[in-house]
Amino acid sequence: MSQTGLTENQIQLIEESFAAVAPRGAALVARFYQRLFQDYPEVKPMFTSDPHVQQKKLLGSLVLVVENLRKPEKLQPALQQLGIRHNDYGTKPEQYQAVGSTLLKTLAEYAGDVWGSELEEAWTVAYTAISEVMIESAQLAEANA
Ligand code: HEM
Repeated sequence: MSQTGLTENQIQLIEESFAAVAPRGAALVARFYQRLFQDYPEVKPMFTSDPHVQQKKLLGSLVLVVENLRKPEKLQPALQQLGIRHNDYGTKPEQYQAVGSTLLKTLAEYAGDVWGSELEEAWTVAYTAISEVMIESAQLAEANA
C-alpha cells in the first residue's frame, strides 16, 4: 500500500471514530463475529481456534491499521503477511466483501449517532485498500508456490 487513497480528512475521521469505539473494542469484535456467522454461516467452519484469542487478534489488527494509516511503509508489509496467512486459512478474494460489510455494520452500530455517509465512505476506502493488499499478496504467494 504505497498509498491508502484516503484524504487527510478521512484519516482523521477514522482515527476519531476508532478512538470513540476502542474502549468497547472487545465487545465490538465479539459482535463482529456474531454478525459474520449469522449473515454468512458458510464461513464459520473456517474459524477453528479459540474465539477469544481470535477476537483479540482481530482487535489488534484493527489497532495496527488505524495507528499506521499515515505510515503505509509500515502497514504494507504487515498486511502482506496477513494476506499470505489468510491464503493458508483458505480465504477466497470474494469473501473479503462479506467481512467488510460485516465490519462496517458493526462499526456503525458502535459509533452510534456520529456514524454517517462520510464515515462510511472513509472506512470503505480504508477497508478496500487493506483488502487489495491482502488479496494481491496472497495471489503472488500462490503464484510463486
Ligand atoms: C481486512 C480484512 C481482514 C483482517 C484485518 C483480518 C484479520 C485477521 C487476524 C488478525 C487474524 C488472526 C490470525 C493472524 O494474524 O493470521 C485472522 C484470522 C483469520 N481470518 Fe481474518 N482478517 C480479514 C479478512 C478475512 C476474511 C475475508 C476471511 C474469510 C472468511 C478471514 C478469515 C480468517 C480465518 C479463517 C482466520 C483463522 C481463524 C482461526 O485461527 O481459527 N479473514 N484474521
